[in-house]
Amino acid sequence: MNNFTFYTPTEIIFGKDAEAKTAEAVKKHGGKRVFIVFGGGSAKKSGLLDRIEEELKTEGIPFEEFGGVQPNPTVAHARAGVKAAAKFGADMILAVGGGSVIDTAKAVAHGASNLDTDIWEFWSGKKTVERSMPVGVVLTISAAGSETSNSAVLTNEETGKKCGINTDFNRPAFAIMNPELTYTIPRYQLACGIADIMMHTLDRYFTHETGNNFTDRVAEALLKNVVHYARAAMVNHKDYEAMSELMWCGSVSHNGFTSLGRTMDFGVHKLGHELSGKFGVTHGASLTTMWGAWARTVYTDAPERFAQYAENVWGVSVGTVEERARAGIRETEEFWKSIGLPLSFKQLGIGVQDEETLEYLADMCTDYGKKTVAFFHPIDRETALEMYRRAN
Ligand code: NZQ
Ligand code: ZN
Repeated sequence: MNNFTFYTPTEIIFGKDAEAKTAEAVKKHGGKRVFIVFGGGSAKKSGLLDRIEEELKTEGIPFEEFGGVQPNPTVAHARAGVKAAAKFGADMILAVGGGSVIDTAKAVAHGASNLDTDIWEFWSGKKTVERSMPVGVVLTISAAGSETSNSAVLTNEETGKKCGINTDFNRPAFAIMNPELTYTIPRYQLACGIADIMMHTLDRYFTHETGNNFTDRVAEALLKNVVHYARAAMVNHKDYEAMSELMWCGSVSHNGFTSLGRTMDFGVHKLGHELSGKFGVTHGASLTTMWGAWARTVYTDAPERFAQYAENVWGVSVGTVEERARAGIRETEEFWKSIGLPLSFKQLGIGVQDEETLEYLADMCTDYGKKTVAFFHPIDRETALEMYRRAN
């Protein structure tokens, strides 16, 4: 097991009616002027935003709204948020929504605390975040895990580059998680969220580092649990038990617990981000499109690891190591297909792409061949191109 530090400071307030504790959490974490970030309207339509604002009013906490965050949020919109939050004099950013809203809130927190810096300088790696302000979350979709993660992902609409930054300043102060708030998620988004939850553990599971048994068991249990309850949730999206299990797994899958003591890979995420950057596709769908192409390219590096995955997650116990490894890949894809997720560019809805576009994607993923991404199987430009061709 490698040395590790595990830091997850986010206070989790989980369960039915949890959002009724929002103002209390705001006060507890020092919020005196709250800048509320939300998305395209679902939080308004459901009445959630009104309920939260009523609570803040009752407690005499001034707030300002900032809506309009789109999926795959842009740096331009986050910049507008920084301006507005600074003008308002916010000392806490409250995200009411999913990963896109939360990541925008994180960007606004960093930007409004560093007015001399354009936020993209953080995302492009030119500067590191040295100070910020607390971010609170009222979560409405189980997917990205941003409510506890140390990541925030933005797209630069000018270049089409989508990327994330990891810093402990991205860890929210608190997360309000009421599974009932997720009952209204559209079916496709629900499926994409399920895939993303799985991918946050899958992108940590495949490793050459051995002797990390507990983390393996946690990861396998999480994956099995998500598959089990995903099936129930896809049948009845008002199944409280299923939606609760998915919601909690979504946080644990991306708070670092399923990779303790090992190096994280995240190659599939990087491949997928280029698809969202270029075509605006939904994050979870970009991942299911790329995972099979990635897995079939790399499984021969450690077939035993893939066979272990097949056996402990999918119950595949017959065949040679190679056969079991391949069966695990097939089972994963069959499951995603069964909940309506794409396995190829065509199914993703972007059509078959020409070679020039595939080269563009490989260039974007590897900074024009100047760097390799991931650890399990380092992905250079040629390998990225091969994987995009396989998914095409
Ligand atoms: O904008 P509204 O109207 O709220 O609608 C959203 C949006 O259209 C809708 N939605 C959310 N909750 C709903 C709901 N509709 C009805 N009822 C509800 N309760 O769902 C759509 C998708 O929302 P979004 O926030 O984009 O989804 P998700 O949570 O999957 O976040 C995706 C973003 O997070 C990034 C992704 O790349 C993508 O940009 N990620 C962030 C990570 C992080 N910060 O740690 C890690 C992930 O790997 C991921 O990269
Ligand atoms: Zn993800």
